[in-house]
Amino acid sequence: MYLWSISPKNPPKQLTGYLSGHSYLWPMRIDILTVLPELLESPFQHSIMKRAQDKGLLEVVTHPLRKWAVNDYGQIDDYQYGGGAGMVMMCEPLAKAIEELSAERKYDEIIYLTPDGEQLNQKIANSLSLKGNLLMICGHYKGIDERIRQHFVTKEISIGDYVLSGGELAAAVLVDTIGRLLPGVLNDETSALFDSFQDNLLAPPVYTRPEDFRGWKVPDILMSGDHKKIDEWRLEQSIERTKQRRPDLEI
Ligand code: ADE
Repeated sequence: MYLWSISPKNPPKQLTGYLSGHSYLWPMRIDILTVLPELLESPFQHSIMKRAQDKGLLEVVTHPLRKWAVNDYGQIDDYQYGGGAGMVMMCEPLAKAIEELSAERKYDEIIYLTPDGEQLNQKIANSLSLKGNLLMICGHYKGIDERIRQHFVTKEISIGDYVLSGGELAAAVLVDTIGRLLPGVLNDETSALFDSFQDNLLAPPVYTRPEDFRGWKVPDILMSGDHKKIDEWRLEQSIERTKQRRPDLEI
């Protein structure tokens, strides 16, 4: 599901800045620490994320955490103190990795993807899209040692109330939501205004050819050519949908 705004007069901040000529320091750089870099090979090599990187607007670099393993076996996790099933990602590899990467560039945020983090929404994506350098940490097993969270991590993000096998897919989601907001990434700059959560409105229904499919017709209003009326109809549909499906969203 995606949400939509009919209100170009109220564009999201990052686009306001861009459209008004404010220049940000691009490309945005996102480093990702992961035990499974293979999982992140594909998500950024297609479609909009690929275009963002090809255009030099976004740079995504994955770092295999085992590079900083505590021994030659590539160990990065250990049993948890106090007992219980499940391994915990150790302090040392994470601390060394974060310190080494932080020596190269100053991160605006060091983000840990975790189901007990703040739930991702468009507002968070908007605000992160204004940053220059982000470091993301993908957890696995029981998660990472609490001391890393306390002493290095600056932001904890969940992509929803469910548990994934690891943080990689969550990181891919986060990179995608941020990456598509970077000005110049989408073909039509305004499209970010019209297809996102910006105004807390769900998108209206959309139709394409043919006009009549098995007797199921496209609403007459969309064929009318009256753009004012079409805009009004879309807004009504959006509001109606939002009320029905997401009464929790404040319109
Ligand atoms: N890691 C495991 N589950 C997650 C979730 N829901 N969000 C972010 N990171 C996760």
